[in-house]
Amino acid sequence: MTTTTAPTASGTAKSLTIEALHKNYTSRGRESFHAVKGIDLDIRPGELVALLGPSGCGKTTTLRMIAGLETVTSGDIRIGDRSIPDLPPGKRDVGVGFESYALYPPLTVRQNLAYGLKARKVRDADARVQAIAERLEMTDLLDLRPAGLSSGQKQRVALARALIRNPPVLLLDEPLSHLDAAQRQRVRRELKVLQREFGYTTIVVTHDQLEALSLADRLAVMNNGVIQQFGTADEIFDDPANLFVADFVGEPKINLTEGVAESDGTVRVGRDGRLVSAARSVPAGGSVTVGIRPQDVQLAEAGSVSVPAEVVVFEDLLEFGLATVRVEGLDSHLVVQTPAGVVRRRGDRLHLSAPPERVYLFDADSGDRLR
Ligand SMILES: Nc1ncnc2c1ncn2[C@@H]1O[C@H](COP(=O)(O)OP(=O)(O)OP(=O)(O)O)[C@@H](O)[C@H]1O
Ligand SMILES: [Mg+2]
Repeated sequence: MTTTTAPTASGTAKSLTIEALHKNYTSRGRESFHAVKGIDLDIRPGELVALLGPSGCGKTTTLRMIAGLETVTSGDIRIGDRSIPDLPPGKRDVGVGFESYALYPPLTVRQNLAYGLKARKVRDADARVQAIAERLEMTDLLDLRPAGLSSGQKQRVALARALIRNPPVLLLDEPLSHLDAAQRQRVRRELKVLQREFGYTTIVVTHDQLEALSLADRLAVMNNGVIQQFGTADEIFDDPANLFVADFVGEPKINLTEGVAESDGTVRVGRDGRLVSAARSVPAGGSVTVGIRPQDVQLAEAGSVSVPAEVVVFEDLLEFGLATVRVEGLDSHLVVQTPAGVVRRRGDRLHLSAPPERVYLFDADSGDRLR
């Protein structure tokens, strides 16, 4: 699905290294706010990293510090081996696609895009504007002024403006969020093609998991100002570092339920359910949080180590089905993904199990993964 090493078409691709980066917002008369709490990220030359996390977790703050739009409280950021926190934004070699990054209202889109290039006396500025506009399907916007653009159109202009300078490092904050579904897919693909062609070392912030999976070489999952896990999609999906990551990444969402570790190494789920987990560091008798992805639930033989369940609702989604099941002794229902063509009915009784390495256990208090 993803590769660990990003091919770099351009020989000038540079690494982006973030070390112990903090941001403390302070403003007079208000309590300070620690928005970014010691982030480390080592992004390879030409790599595309998706930054994922809930609203307010510090994604934009992180990008703004890299771009130089926000001061760094402490820590270092390096492009190649050059430390950048003391450089002005214009000297950082960073292309920025932020929605809030204003266009000059009196200029047309074409003039806006050419502006920076002409200021730097780039000779083929007009041809480059034309070329990027064609690739992002926005030639029809070139002679309009910013005030007349829809939010989706503004977004494509912002993306074009970030790309047109061929920056070694590209930072994009929700670059496709206002596009309609069809456009989103096309622009997403083109963005990836351009990124590969030019070897931009890229961070894309997105709320959309599918977008993150389709674009990124690696994902950085963030919460509360901290990177919770940094890895390929497979690593994050198959081996989540903690409860937050397991819960945040994956569709349909992972089942999370309370369980009790038994002395025989199994985990009790509900009144009569038992599951085997590969985790060894679980104290017998201890309460744990059990996580099982709907895709990992299998049918088992009655009488085996399994969880008896009854179907409450079945949804046939063509490519697969989703059975919502009730387990005696559990407050919440579990969701089970079934293969295409398998139909379940309300009231069907099932016995559920999962491969031990796909039964994740978490500390019920801290959410840390128990291994
Ligand atoms: N200038 C500021 N002064 C004080 N606090 C701020 C400032 N800018 C952002 N914050 C706070 O820092 C935290 C992180 O904000 P940030 O914009 O980085 O989040 P985000 O992850 O980009 O969220 P979203 O997905 O909603 O865009 C938030 O709690 C926000 O309220
Ligand atoms: Mg943001």
